[in-house]
Amino acid sequence: MEAKQLIRMATAARENAYCPYSHYAVGAALLCEDGRVFVGCNVENASFGATLCAERAALAAAVTAGARAFAALALVGGPEGEEAGEVCPCGICLQALSELCGREMPVYTPVGDTPVGRTLGELIPNAFQL
Ligand code: THU
Repeated sequence: MEAKQLIRMATAARENAYCPYSHYAVGAALLCEDGRVFVGCNVENASFGATLCAERAALAAAVTAGARAFAALALVGGPEGEEAGEVCPCGICLQALSELCGREMPVYTPVGDTPVGRTLGELIPNAFQL
């Protein structure tokens, strides 16, 4: 699957973001090695620390469905009601992704109309491990 298509799926998921506190809407699409795609959006909470990011929502959906091999992630975000743009995963999401996704997995985000991919290893070179 092309990065652009994965970004389109993340953008569609972003439409469902629940973000009444930050008004910042994020969408993620996680492509599995077997071709399945799991999407997620941010789900905020009045107890702010209970907020779930889009990437971890997608990761949890994938793992729940039995997926364990991941090929690529697309991530889009921006102020609610505005067009989706570039986002870098937050530190918690990078740590969560690094547990189950390979260092070489590309993370795509749109810069203008162009998908830009950085590997997970570039984004979190020294993830915590037990
Ligand atoms: N957010 C994500 O969904 N993913 C990230 O990697 C960064 C932050 C969400 C959390 C919160 O709902 C909003 O963006 C503003 O921080």
